[in-house]
Amino acid sequence: MSEVFGVVGAGTMGNGIAQVAARAGFDVVMRDVGQEFLERGMKAIDKSLQRDVDKERLSKDEKSAIIRRICTTTDIGALSDAFIVVEAVTEDLALKTEVFRALDDIVTSNAILASNTSSISITKLGAVTRRPDKVIGMHFMNPVPVMKLVELIRGAATSDQTHEKTRALSENLGKIPVECQDSPGFISNRVLMPMINEAIFALYEGVATRESIDGIMKLGMNHPMGPLALADFIGLDVCLAIMNVLHDGFGDPKYRPCPLLKRYVDAGWLGKKSARGFYEY
Ligand SMILES: NC(=O)c1ccc[n+]([C@@H]2O[C@H](COP(=O)([O-])OP(=O)(O)OC[C@H]3O[C@@H](n4cnc5c(N)ncnc54)[C@H](O)[C@@H]3O)[C@@H](O)[C@H]2O)c1
Repeated sequence: MSEVFGVVGAGTMGNGIAQVAARAGFDVVMRDVGQEFLERGMKAIDKSLQRDVDKERLSKDEKSAIIRRICTTTDIGALSDAFIVVEAVTEDLALKTEVFRALDDIVTSNAILASNTSSISITKLGAVTRRPDKVIGMHFMNPVPVMKLVELIRGAATSDQTHEKTRALSENLGKIPVECQDSPGFISNRVLMPMINEAIFALYEGVATRESIDGIMKLGMNHPMGPLALADFIGLDVCLAIMNVLHDGFGDPKYRPCPLLKRYVDAGWLGKKSARGFYEY
């Protein structure tokens, strides 16, 4: 079996997944649509590994070896030898569908196609391929090198064998896989996002300041970050996309995204990545 670990998308999540796979010893091929995205991704990997070198958790030689194991490309054909491809492109059903169709044509018939989607149906992504039994959700958390959880999502057609292989692989990457069924938002975002959305409603209604809302949740609930700071960290566009998936998927008005969240996304205030969200960076 080939040991090439494929990653599609070199953004926040994709470069984190590539880093973790290379650190576990896999040869990684990371694909994005433009050279500039790949360079930004490699810069993020370098910075993250350098932090470990500075803290003496990694030697300089190990860092160089990890970076050498990651090959970047804009050519999707370069993923043909992969035994697994983890897709981490922008959260958009049409885009992910296109990527899954293309991957299905390129990789060998045994290869697993995994998606890091936060909320899109794994069953739908599987159905556009000729291998729905080998399609699974591998939902890593941000920042990938730090967070232990991988939420493993089984689509309607995902086989036991694919699930078992992906579970073992997640453990090889030093992660803790936890399984759930395919349902809007899975477990993580079905529980987390309505809380974030409610915090945004409280801000919108003037119930409290951003500092008070985050302070109450940190001090009172022992959350390491307040919900508004967490929304900025995740990306407000990502939060809005997930609320829309919950709203459409369940058809329940309790999932309607807060108008303030929509307004911030319209303004391009997407959180940390655009230097402005509920806070300024
Ligand atoms: N940010 C988070 O906290 C988080 C957490 C868990 C899961 N996710 C999910 O991970 C996925 C990626 O999110 P992100 O935050 O890394 O987004 P991001 O915007 O940082 O990165 C997305 C990358 O995908 C690239 N891309 C777009 N179309 C492509 C294509 N056809 N082929 C290859 N690359 C393409 C973009 O150029 C960009 O570099 C989404 O599905 C998101 O829901 C995000």
